[in-house]
Amino acid sequence: MSFSKNHLFFLSSLLILTCSAFGSQVSHDGRAITIDGQRKLIISGSIHYPRSTAEMWPDLIKKAKEGGLNAIETYVFWNIHEPQRRQYDFSGNNDLIRFLKTIQDQGLHSILRIGPYVCAEWNYGGFPVWLHNMPGLEMRTANDVFMNEMQNFTSLIVHMIKKESLFASQGGPIILAQIENEYGNVISSYGDAGKAYLNWCASMAESLNIGVPWIMCQESDAPEPMLNTCNGYYCDQFTPNNPNTPKIWTENWTGWFKNWGGPDPLRTAEDVAFAVARFYQNGGALQNYYMYHGGTNFGRTAGGPYISTTYDYDAPLNEYGTPNQPKYGHLTQLHNILMSMERTLTYGNVNSTDYGNSLYGTVYTLDNTSSCFFGNGNETSDATVNYQGVDYNVPAWSVSILPDCKTEVYNTAKVNTQTNLMVKKSNEAEAEPASLKWSWRPEINLEQTLVQGKGQLSTSMIVDQKVANDVSDYLWYMTSVNLEKDDPIWTDNMSIRVNATGHILHAYVNGDYLDSQWATYGVSNYVFEKKVKLNPGTNQITLLSATIGFQNYGPRFDIVQAGISGPVEIVGRKGDETIIKDLSLHKWSYKAGLHGLDDKIYSSDSKFAAQWSTENLPLNRMLTWYKTTFKAPLGEDPVALDMQGLGKGMAWVNGNSIGRYWPSYMAEDDVCSTDVCDYRGSYYSTKCASNCGQPTQRWYHVPRSFINDGDNELVLFEEFGGNPTLVNFQTVTVGTACGSAYENKNMELSCQGRPISAIKFASFGDVQGTCGSYDKGSCTSETDALSIVQSACVGKESCTVSASESTFGTADCADGISKRLIVEAVC
Ligand code: GAL
Repeated sequence: MSFSKNHLFFLSSLLILTCSAFGSQVSHDGRAITIDGQRKLIISGSIHYPRSTAEMWPDLIKKAKEGGLNAIETYVFWNIHEPQRRQYDFSGNNDLIRFLKTIQDQGLHSILRIGPYVCAEWNYGGFPVWLHNMPGLEMRTANDVFMNEMQNFTSLIVHMIKKESLFASQGGPIILAQIENEYGNVISSYGDAGKAYLNWCASMAESLNIGVPWIMCQESDAPEPMLNTCNGYYCDQFTPNNPNTPKIWTENWTGWFKNWGGPDPLRTAEDVAFAVARFYQNGGALQNYYMYHGGTNFGRTAGGPYISTTYDYDAPLNEYGTPNQPKYGHLTQLHNILMSMERTLTYGNVNSTDYGNSLYGTVYTLDNTSSCFFGNGNETSDATVNYQGVDYNVPAWSVSILPDCKTEVYNTAKVNTQTNLMVKKSNEAEAEPASLKWSWRPEINLEQTLVQGKGQLSTSMIVDQKVANDVSDYLWYMTSVNLEKDDPIWTDNMSIRVNATGHILHAYVNGDYLDSQWATYGVSNYVFEKKVKLNPGTNQITLLSATIGFQNYGPRFDIVQAGISGPVEIVGRKGDETIIKDLSLHKWSYKAGLHGLDDKIYSSDSKFAAQWSTENLPLNRMLTWYKTTFKAPLGEDPVALDMQGLGKGMAWVNGNSIGRYWPSYMAEDDVCSTDVCDYRGSYYSTKCASNCGQPTQRWYHVPRSFINDGDNELVLFEEFGGNPTLVNFQTVTVGTACGSAYENKNMELSCQGRPISAIKFASFGDVQGTCGSYDKGSCTSETDALSIVQSACVGKESCTVSASESTFGTADCADGISKRLIVEAVC
């Protein structure tokens, strides 16, 4: 048989197929990441799979792609995958492989930060707490027991991924993998063993043969072939330790996380864009937004102590997965422009000019094309660059991009994207949305702990709460003390004194509640002291400790204590004499968790499901369970649970934990500034922050996939005592959209799928103020801008209006004033 042309065609297609099954070759040089011999510009964003739901992933990743990203980064979270030693969980929202395949389906690259230490404001930095309890184990250092566990988990992940051919070398999306995380920030506290561990991490990772490069972030002495990379708000000045490796920015913090008691962060679109443009101006090869979508710390995944349930981060996609405008749109435009210059940026010759006063020009030239960046790092003075006979104005703290070195198509300080103000709407599916019908029950079997001091095990010491393997936030510490009236300590001025580690303590004596105490974020201990009336004879002391996430960061963060550290003492005061009875070496009995949690009282198949009462609904009662049913909010907008009125606790919707709630914890008063937010100057986490004096977190995201069409159940465990009657479900949507376009750009406006119902303000000139409170400036166009925009936009889902004098007539503005069209629309 001879081969026909068709056969040859078939064979050659087979060859192509086989080649792609072999995957891509990912390498790097001093300039860029190279995929199959081509240098690539990588613009990536972090989305952590367990901080959203599997149902949300396709939409989040699609929006990331539409936002101009070509890669998605995630950590791998060891403690959710190996909750007990050698028992693994990759189901549901923990389905890492499904997440990676979703990235692949969208044709995006992926960066996999395996860790397995991740930090990430995640409980215990991602380490399972059982690790801590392994005999002889020391974490993140040259310790065989630890290294064996780390290698076991890391290889398990690598093997799973190889099995699914998800490394780029196999045809999959993963182009880079990370081992460890910011070890360089803490290495000095581990001495020589730290250095040995670092080298071991590198060779262990290498031995896994993944076929793509490994990175180590914040690790200035990363051993070759590990690539060291930068994390921070600005990384344009970063140079890797090896000149043959590209400039990689693994974490560009788009905002900041929130802690209980902390304000709402805001990092302006102008400043993030400035940082990104400067990075690529200075030869950056890959940058990753940390976070692109922050999401939610569901269940007990929040780290800490004191990290809030929301992990919104002021990221380009908000906690609910909808665009955070103008950040999302302003960055999208930047990405598209940078990608249009990809070849010139990665292959061109670079020529930089220092114009003085923090003004720099960079020209990339390839063949006959040039692309220019003019960057002004001065915080207050605008500047003018004269380039090839033309003057270009560059506002303070901004970068202008001229893809052809002639026309400025983008300036990081000029926002040509709409701003959205989100609103919460009540659940229209309920007749009386704010008055859900509640039933309640006390925590089960409380007398066992409060009165009888009955636990699961006992020992003659006070233990760190990590001993309980983090099966629950709650650990009961119980002891009894025998005091006779002739005891030298006996007086009418006796108190109980407890040294605790900063988490929450509720103290009970002889079944009666005494008092509670807790610290604030960043404070790792306090002394509780309270006067107490003891009985002659036996007294039962019960201390309930509630952790708020284990420490996730710092040198030897893993041994930072949690729970009650001791000593626990009875203090008797007689005149100027103080007598102390140290109870620390008494017999202490322990119970982890709550009976209601053990019995999963929050799920409909609990054996206590029927034992709820609708009578005498108690308010402000500690350790109380509440339950109600609700109808799914109409429409498709994301759902939030308004928890106003409650103290602190946990909430479940149809058995799914939506995280810890703590609306009674107010954001501190003094960190928010009353000045108008100025994007200029270096960002820090409280700059432009808001929400001071308000509940740190009043609303809690309830993913639509937790909600059924019919009746739904909400269960609360209220630890402090609160009033559930104000609790209600709401939907989150755009309330006001403010369009903005500088002269000769198009103003695009949309209400995210709903029609624009009215235009409240429109002006072409030097408009002052911010979205929600605009004022016409000193110069404004002659025509009635409001009616022009009204007729172009009202009733439509989106509209485009040219911000030009031909549309609006002349606006007589002084030289140097940039004219813009500003519109405020009601959605
Ligand atoms: C970095 C760390 C991240 C995250 C970030 C702050 O130091 O690598 O995991 O914790 O800080 O959000």
